[in-house]
Amino acid sequence: MIPIAIDKERLYASLNELGEIGAYVDAQSGVRGVNRLALTAADGEGRRHVVAKMRAAKLEVTVDRIGNVYGRRTGRDDQLRPVMMGSHIDSVPTAGRFDGCLGVLGALEVVRTLDDAKIETMRPVVVAFFTDEEGSRFGTDMLGSAVATGRLALGDAYALRDRDGATVRDELAKLGFLGEADVRLTPPHAYLECHIEQGPILRASEMDIGVVTGVQSISWHELTIAGKSAHAGTTPMPMRADAGVAAARINLHLREMIASGRYGRDMRATMGAISPSPGLVNIVPGRVTATVDLRNPDDSFMRAAETDLLAFYDEAARAENVRIAWRQTARTPCVPFDTGLQAHIERCAGARGLAHRRIVSGAGHDAQEMAHITRAAMIFVPGENDGISHNPRELSTPEQCANGVNVLLDVLSLLADEKDQGAS
Ligand code: GLV
Ligand code: MN
Ligand code: MN
Repeated sequence: MIPIAIDKERLYASLNELGEIGAYVDAQSGVRGVNRLALTAADGEGRRHVVAKMRAAKLEVTVDRIGNVYGRRTGRDDQLRPVMMGSHIDSVPTAGRFDGCLGVLGALEVVRTLDDAKIETMRPVVVAFFTDEEGSRFGTDMLGSAVATGRLALGDAYALRDRDGATVRDELAKLGFLGEADVRLTPPHAYLECHIEQGPILRASEMDIGVVTGVQSISWHELTIAGKSAHAGTTPMPMRADAGVAAARINLHLREMIASGRYGRDMRATMGAISPSPGLVNIVPGRVTATVDLRNPDDSFMRAAETDLLAFYDEAARAENVRIAWRQTARTPCVPFDTGLQAHIERCAGARGLAHRRIVSGAGHDAQEMAHITRAAMIFVPGENDGISHNPRELSTPEQCANGVNVLLDVLSLLADEKDQGAS
C-alpha cells in the first residue's frame, strides 16, 4: 500500500501565513521574527486566524474557560474517545515561526490530508491549541494544558497578572476567548505533538526525526532582592546594600553549580530576566527582580540543586546585606512519554525511510501535561542555525517540517483506527 502524504507546500505556506501575524523585524539582525505573546492583540489575531482555518476544514470548534481551543473531526464511531493532536500558537516576544505552530498547523494539515483522501477514521480526531504555553507574560508556563489536565486550578490561573497588572481572566475576556466549555478535559485516547527540536542534536547527527522519550524537569523562581538605593559616588563600599551585586552572585553560583558537575552533566541554569531599580548609571540598585530557570533530566539532581540554590539565596543576602524573597512560578518533574507510542513513531519513521533517534526534550511542552491523563508522545524535527529557538533565526525547512507531519499523520491514522484499550 502506498501511504498517503501531507502537502509539503500547503503546510509551509500555512506556517508562513501565521508567521505574518505579530511579525516584526529584529533590530540587531534585521531578521523577521514573531511576537505573539499570550493573550495580546497579536495572539488574539493568531487565534482567530487558526479558528477560521479549523472551521474551513469543517472542524467543530469549542473554546474552554481557559481559552484552549479544540477543533473536532467526526469519527465513524463518534462515541469513542478521540485522538488529539496539538501544541500552542502563543510565542515568546522574540520568536520564529515554528515553535508550537508546527504542532497545531501540522495537525490541521493531517486533517486536510485525511479529507483530501476521503478517509474517515473510526475515532474522532481533535486538533488543539492551548493557552499560554510559553509563560513569558504571566510567569507560569503550560498554563492552558495544565488547567485542562488538573495540575493548576482555574481560579489560580485566572488570577495571574502580567507586569502591568492585567489578569489572565480579563485578557481572555477582552480577546473573546473566555469560552464556556468545561475546562477539565475528558482524557482522549492518546495525544500526539509534533514540534521543532529547538536544539542542535538532530541536525548535527543528520537525523530526520526525534522520537521524544520525555521532558526534563523544570523549576522557575522569581526573585525580589531588596537592598538600598544610594549615591554611586558618595556611598562608601562597606555601607552599600547593592541588590545588583547579590543578583550577580546568584547568577555566578548557578554557573559554579553546573561546572562542579554535582547535579549531573545535563543541568542547565539561566537567569533570564534581571531588572534593577531604579536602573540608573549613578545609583546603587536598591531593588532587583530576577528569574531563575533550572532544568535537569534527573529528578533527584533537580531536587538537590534546588536545595543548594535556596541555601545560597541566604548566603548572598548575608554577604550583600540585602533581603531576598523568592517565589516558585513553575515546577514540573521529569515526564516520560508512552513507550508504545514511541515505538509507533519509530516504526512509522522507519517505514518512510526517515533517519530517527531517541531524544530527551530540553524544552517544556503541552504534551508533558497531557501525559498525566493519557498516553502522550512527541515527534521532533531538526532545526537549522544550530537549532536556535526563541529567536527570529529559528528555522526548519519545508522538508524537515513535512517529515515530522507525515509521521504525525501515520501515527494518528494508526491510533484513530485502534480498538478500545480497556474502557476507552
Ligand atoms: C518552553 O518553551 C520552555 O521554556 O521550555
Ligand atoms: Mn513550544
Ligand atoms: Mn517556546
